[in-house]
Amino acid sequence: MAAKKLFDGIFWVGAEDWDRRLFDSLIPLPDGTSYNAYIVQGRELTVLIDAVDPSKKDIFENHLKEFPRIDLIIANHLEQDHSGLIPCVLDRFPGSRLLATPAARDLILTHLHVAPDRIRTVADGERLDLGGRTIRFIHFPWVHWPETMLSYLEEDKILFSCDLFGSHLASSELMAEDENRLDEPAKRYFAEIMMPFRKIIQKNLLVIEGLELNFIAPSHGPIHSRPAFIIDAYKKWVADRPENSVLIAWVSMHDSTAKMVNYLTEELASKGIKVMPFDLTVADLGHLAMSLVEAATIIVASPTILTGLHPLAAEAIFLVNALRPKALFAGFIGSYGWKSRALGQLQSMLDSVKFELLTPVQIKGAPRPEDLLLLSKLAADIYQKHQAAGLF
Ligand code: FEO
Repeated sequence: MAAKKLFDGIFWVGAEDWDRRLFDSLIPLPDGTSYNAYIVQGRELTVLIDAVDPSKKDIFENHLKEFPRIDLIIANHLEQDHSGLIPCVLDRFPGSRLLATPAARDLILTHLHVAPDRIRTVADGERLDLGGRTIRFIHFPWVHWPETMLSYLEEDKILFSCDLFGSHLASSELMAEDENRLDEPAKRYFAEIMMPFRKIIQKNLLVIEGLELNFIAPSHGPIHSRPAFIIDAYKKWVADRPENSVLIAWVSMHDSTAKMVNYLTEELASKGIKVMPFDLTVADLGHLAMSLVEAATIIVASPTILTGLHPLAAEAIFLVNALRPKALFAGFIGSYGWKSRALGQLQSMLDSVKFELLTPVQIKGAPRPEDLLLLSKLAADIYQKHQAAGLF
């Protein structure tokens, strides 16, 4: 495969990864992914913006053969899927240097073992003149590592955003021709990777909105030829206001907790609340993460096993705590046999979020009519809280 010309002097030198199904040995990739890297040529300097995953070394090196010189390598982000091959590029072009934020310097030394004299740090707002083309560096930490930055090509009005605005989608189309196709991969990507940094993105989106943009070129997924599509989506996802919905992450062993979930689902739905139940024995955690982006209330439903949470429920709580969604309320329901410490475990695991905890409903054995009344009361409580929060 050859490098692809995007515009005069601007080339895509990335790689599609059609078959990858897990990222970080954790995140499901139902649509594969891509690692986008770009060459930008000015009259005096040629730069490479980011590299690709080391698993695609052969493809990447074939691309680079088409370019007799690279003077500078810009590392917007040091995670290995973009930086792992940078030492190879530095070797291939012995006169080249690596540009990154000051916060990236230590990561470059410890992760990539690059010689210190090959690194040059760039300041926030610093401009690099390539000869007829200017790249402005915009420090944008915590999307999603501490060293991240964006590179803005001023004359062409292209923002090279690395992970930010990306989507895990392998595609033969470099440009996002069909935005509908991007809805799920982009939201899944935000939910799994960017959501913990929602507040930081919220604040920094103002910087991006101040740029004139023709294109946003991320390092995963298609290039956005209509930047408003992804910027507007991010504005909605990072906003503080959740939607009038309840996510129920549930698991059941002998059907008692399942009956509780079904009853609560019907009660909530009858009040006009959107309900998103996830059976954790079969759920795609990416879909669960996407539903966390807008849910106002999160209910964990777990039976008690060995006096504690079912491991699948514990995994879901761990995920919620790590992703730090914008939900306002959380609750716990479930059945136990003789004794349960599950609620205390849930409370101790949610140490990164500030949900208001609703009155739990834990019952012994199979649900009786009086137990179902407690679930009706929980549904009424959720309805009132959503109403008071202005979500209807
Ligand atoms: Fe695509 Fe954070 O690496």
